[in-house]
Amino acid sequence: MRRHRILILGGTTEARQLAAALSQRPDCDLLLSLAGRTAEPMAQPVPVRSGGFGGSDGLAAFLNEEKFDLLIDATHPFAARISHNAVIAARTTGIAFFAMRRPVWQQQPGDRWTRVSTIAEAVPALGAAPRCVFLAIGRQEAFHFNNAPQHRYVIRSVDPVSPPLDVPDATYILATGPFEEDAERELLERNKVDVIVAKNSGGAATYGKIAAARQLGIEVIMVERQQPAEISTANTVEDALGLVDHLFSPEMKRGV
Ligand SMILES: NC(=O)c1ccc[n+]([C@@H]2O[C@H](COP(=O)([O-])OP(=O)(O)OC[C@H]3O[C@@H](n4cnc5c(N)ncnc54)[C@H](OP(=O)(O)O)[C@@H]3O)[C@@H](O)[C@H]2O)c1
Repeated sequence: MRRHRILILGGTTEARQLAAALSQRPDCDLLLSLAGRTAEPMAQPVPVRSGGFGGSDGLAAFLNEEKFDLLIDATHPFAARISHNAVIAARTTGIAFFAMRRPVWQQQPGDRWTRVSTIAEAVPALGAAPRCVFLAIGRQEAFHFNNAPQHRYVIRSVDPVSPPLDVPDATYILATGPFEEDAERELLERNKVDVIVAKNSGGAATYGKIAAARQLGIEVIMVERQQPAEISTANTVEDALGLVDHLFSPEMKRGV
């Protein structure tokens, strides 16, 4: 019997967990795709390919040539370009498709959130007066804060910010999550952080700083997600496994 070929677009904890769970199914043949940006990517439980496809056309061609049956977009909720490409490629090839999306964090009593739509909008939201800013947004868009050099920055990322910010006072922390609330509170206190800039990524792994900020009464400039496309979505690995079951059920294969 031919096994179902599944391409998982990854780069997240959920993608790794989903790949591990699906690898237990003897009827599935998996390939996990990474962007290839991280210098030392984590070990993965299934075969991996790395690097861009060349836009939605390249992804569609790859899906056709490699005869995939299902595409799963399990990339980070802020990886907008690859997610858009996945929707287009699934439409043009007609192969089955769904996305894994963690639910967004909801503001809780005691949270001091200022919501913005983009990282660029977060810069003026910091205000004119100098503050200590914890940037927990990854390294790719940190450059926007060159426009507000009056602040002191603490910047955490998996790989180094390159080039470094063109500001007089920046401290860099290289670290990979998950980050626990107690350690996050200690980091915020030690650095006398006044405000955090964070993406509303959802999930538990990076929520510690949000909970710690609530405890300490620290403001969070929260970059909200873009409006998602109208697509089939699973919120958890369990939901995703259920969707795969459904897609590969005998009824679906017969087109019932
Ligand atoms: N953005 C974040 O905050 C964030 C946080 C944690 C992890 N990540 C992970 O880091 C990766 C890059 O994120 P990004 O925000 O730079 O993405 P992006 O802006 O949406 O994608 C830029 C380009 O990178 C390539 N690409 C991205 N993800 C890929 C994948 N899984 N496999 C193959 N090619 C991929 C694609 O190139 P082509 O057009 O040439 O195919 C895509 O057009 C993603 O896999 C994401 O899951 C992102």
